[in-house]
Formats: sequence, C-alpha cells, structure tokens
Amino acid sequence: MCASGPRTYSPLCPLQASLRQIAKNSGKRPKILIRVTVGVEVHTHEFIATAHEDQKFGFSLSGGAAEQAAEQILQDDLLELRGLHSHIGSQIFDASGFEVAARRLLSLHARIAERHGRELPELDLGGGFGIAYTTQDEPAEPHALAGDLLRIVKQECAALHLSVPHLSVEPGRAIVGPAMFTLYEVGTVKDVDGIRTYVSVDGGMSDNIRPALYDAAYSATVAGRASTEPPILARVVGKHCESGDIVVKDEFLPADVSAGDLLAVPGTGAYCRSMASNYNHVPRPPVVAVVDGESRVIVRRETVDDLLRLDVG
Ligand SMILES: Cc1ncc(COP(=O)(O)O)c(C=O)c1O
Repeated sequence: MCASGPRTYSPLCPLQASLRQIAKNSGKRPKILIRVTVGVEVHTHEFIATAHEDQKFGFSLSGGAAEQAAEQILQDDLLELRGLHSHIGSQIFDASGFEVAARRLLSLHARIAERHGRELPELDLGGGFGIAYTTQDEPAEPHALAGDLLRIVKQECAALHLSVPHLSVEPGRAIVGPAMFTLYEVGTVKDVDGIRTYVSVDGGMSDNIRPALYDAAYSATVAGRASTEPPILARVVGKHCESGDIVVKDEFLPADVSAGDLLAVPGTGAYCRSMASNYNHVPRPPVVAVVDGESRVIVRRETVDDLLRLDVG
C-alpha cells in the first residue's frame, strides 16, 4: 500500500513513517485515531463542511481507505490504534448529522472488532457545535447536544452488541466564540439611494476574515448610546481596498449612525484574532479582557515597529 505510484500510494504512508520515527526517537508508542470521512453532507457553508467525500480531509469510509488505514496501523507494532474519529463540519445546530456520522463510524468500529477480536477503546465525534452569530441563529445548547450524542452512541452500541467506547468531542468555537465581541469605530457613512447605507469601520477582513472567506454572517449594534431614529438597512464594511471586505453584510442600524460611533460585533472569540492578518500591512488590534466592570489588555495592539521587525534593511 505504501509503494509510490498512482494506484498504490496512500496519504497514510508519510504520516505513518513520521509516527514510526517519533516512536523510535521517544521510545513511546503513539496512540492513533483514524480520521474517517463519513460521507455526511451537513447543512452549513461548503468551506466549513468536512465529511462529504469530495474534499481534502480524512480517509474515505465508502471507498475503503479508512478500513485499510485502520488495518495498517493495527499491524504496526510501533503504533497503537485507539479508535476512530470524524469531524463533520462547523456551525451544526442539531444532532442529526452527528447521528449519521456516529452510526457509520460504529459500523466500521464493529467490523474491526469482529476481525481482530477486540474493540477499539475510543470514539471521537469531532467538533462543530454551532454558536449564535446573528439574532436568527438558534443553536442547540452544548449540554443538550452532548446528551443526544451519548444516547445515540449507546443505542447503536447496544444494537451492535458492543461496549460503549470512551466518547470524545472537540468543540472549538462553542467554548470561546461567544466570549468576545469586536468593537469598531465608524469612519464614514455613505448612502446609496434606494439600496442601502455603507458604514465603514476601522477594521475589517484583517481582524475577521470569515465573511470574506465563506460568507459568514454577523450582527452589529451601535454601542455606548441609544437612538430613537428608525432603522435603515446597512452594510458594515472594512477599511481594506477590497469590495469583498465586508464585516456585516446586512444589518439594520439607527438612521443617525455616524462617524465616531462605536459598533459592537458579537461572537468574535473564535477564528477571528487567531486568523487575523496584516492584510495591506494593517496592524492587528489589541484584545481586552473585561470582568465585573474592570478591564485589562491581554494582547497589546500591534505597532508599525512590529510590522517592520522582520525587515533586514
Ligand atoms: C478536527 C476538528 N475538530 C474540531 C474543530 C472545532 O470546530 P468548531 O469550532 O466548529 O467546533 C475543528 C475545526 O476546524 C476541527 O478541524
């Protein structure tokens, strides 16, 4: 399977070789989970769905590559196969996609148990627990989703006469996403008659690439003051020289929104600062922790000196 050539090459080969090297260097036996592409099409943006067949992640279940990879690791004395893993995507609001994934993973888990006479001890259903980015989003509570996953896995294991493996999940944004909001200052306001109002702010795709990368939706609200003006349809845009530099595609803001106003965009605790860039050589903003009315800078603002520090001169 590891010979090179179009039909025999497997992406497992270089990975297995590196893991074997780690085992030899450390004298320890690396524990392995096989990431299985379970063929689930979740209802989320194409770029954050990760378990349909036609994409780069994982070993295919339907094509047999996942089973072959598991066999290969089981036969390797230097490595320990602990179980199967899948991550079906992100921003998933209910358990139905996880249910299909769990059933498919457990069918492979059962075949491996039958062939080798022992059950793998772990099963990892990945992340994907969605959060509310806009007022329309209604994600399930993480504890409710976790309860559903456990029930589904227990039922399926009972039906297959298997013991329940140690079940893991890997929530990412559900842990930190709602903990942060981004505070922008409005620079200019431009009305396009009969269409919408463009509200430009002092940040954009360099501090939050998600709207430009995969059309992610956010909400925004004027912070620090109240308004009795009627709402107008607005698009909040960034300061970079790209038409696609959008912060919030559609939002109703008070008609008196104007330069100097602060705009708060909630739900930016995950995949924003960590994916921020110096696009157009713009310095990245600071991160401020706030608790009980007290604030503290925990990541300082970048300076021009920071931007130039790699220049050799
Ligand atoms: C393998 C894996 N697990 C978990 C996660 C976390 O996903 P989320 O933040 O959508 O819960 C990701 C995100 O890319 C991932 O690739």
